[in-house]
Amino acid sequence: MAEQQQQSPAEVDGSGSVPGGHPVWSSRWTFVLAATGSAVGLGNIWKFPYIAGENGGGAFVLVYLLCILLVGIPVMVAEVMLGRRGRQSPINTMRRLTTEAGLERHWHAIGWLGVIAGLMILSYYAVIAGWALNYIGKMASGAFQGASADQVAIIFADLLSDPKALILWQTVFMILTLLVVIGGVTRGLGVAVRILMPVLFVLLLILLVFGIQRGDFAQAVNFLFSFNYEALTWAGVLEAMGHAFFTLSLGMGAIMAYGAYMPEHARIGRTVLAVGFLDTVVALVAGLAIFPIVFANPSIAPGAGPGLLFVSLPIAFGNMTGGLLFGSLFFVLVTLAAWSSAISLIEPAVAYLIESKKFTRITANLLLGGIAWIVGLGSVLSFNIWAEKQVAGFNFFEFMDFLTSSVMLPLTGLFIALFAGWLMRPETVRSELADESGRVFASWYWILRYVSPIAVGIIFVMGLYKTFS
Ligand code: TRP
Repeated sequence: MAEQQQQSPAEVDGSGSVPGGHPVWSSRWTFVLAATGSAVGLGNIWKFPYIAGENGGGAFVLVYLLCILLVGIPVMVAEVMLGRRGRQSPINTMRRLTTEAGLERHWHAIGWLGVIAGLMILSYYAVIAGWALNYIGKMASGAFQGASADQVAIIFADLLSDPKALILWQTVFMILTLLVVIGGVTRGLGVAVRILMPVLFVLLLILLVFGIQRGDFAQAVNFLFSFNYEALTWAGVLEAMGHAFFTLSLGMGAIMAYGAYMPEHARIGRTVLAVGFLDTVVALVAGLAIFPIVFANPSIAPGAGPGLLFVSLPIAFGNMTGGLLFGSLFFVLVTLAAWSSAISLIEPAVAYLIESKKFTRITANLLLGGIAWIVGLGSVLSFNIWAEKQVAGFNFFEFMDFLTSSVMLPLTGLFIALFAGWLMRPETVRSELADESGRVFASWYWILRYVSPIAVGIIFVMGLYKTFS
């Protein structure tokens, strides 16, 4: 395939700055692949089901879908467009575009906020991905074969109460991530994701069938798609919107960085729709696979929190034919999905240190990975020794998650919408999106200028106010 000859963005950045004629993904599919690899991750398989469960299902899911459509997709188009115009790491891209638009320097903060949010997310992302790594071995050794729901819950609780084990697996995952980012993005992960995402999808479908046959599928569908508005709070709406940013990898420059390598004439609109569609389908299928099992086992509650995936799925795999194999394979794939996302959490910061601070790719990775690892220890401890230590009702992990997903990503997303919608010259914006039809462009531009910022603004203010009042 021609794209494999392409220099990876990582290698480009490794050479220092990226002046004028710098390489691009050879086709828009390579971009779709990289962006989908970034988007589909723990957010879809682990986080979406458990936060939907905590927020009572239906109405939360509807708000989430609306946010994907009216905020996520339009902002993603804007991020790719900004990245492709700036053609540098997000911080320098924002610098360049700010100057181009003749604006104050403060707008650089968009790039900075994003890069910092990325490292904060990576810190706990590695901890959760570590659970998945640990579960590969547990599954393969038959620990869950024939286990009851209670026994599975105890195995999970034992893992959480053991900081040494959690740190070990967090460390392994972090090393895996750094190895890829040091080596380059496209050839390793790009190819892996292309093969593995379909397999992940097939495995999810197998689980779905298991759920339909042996779980309470009707109740799961009812839970996820009936709009019981009473269960929804403003705090939940804020969480749904934050998750729309999280799951599409928006608001921190990951997609902007990947957009910087997009070919000049690829159609941004369709490409982004493809990524958004795949991401949403994976999340919904994961929900439909997990909740039938939850409802068939009274000992697990839908609002069980971060452990939901790690309790409900082993029950299914432990009690189905071929569960040993499929179960191990499933957690391998969860790990890989997390892996291809994690690289996009650190790449923008790495690219910046190389471009502007003369770091080598290796030292940049070691420094940033080290920082994220140390911060991650706080999340590790919040599941055991520090479980009682809380700020405003959040433990450390919950606080990092809230601050990044519900505050920093929406805020950066809002600034991006305002920047692209109101501050860049309309001709510039139109010329980057020249391949879109007039109608499509006009609709997008209108939503980005009016609907997205107003929605984010209202949800943000109401959500924060209600969360803390
Ligand atoms: N989207 C990924 C997931 O759903 C996580 C992720 C990767 C991310 N890169 C990001 C989230 C950038 C926000 C910003 O698991």
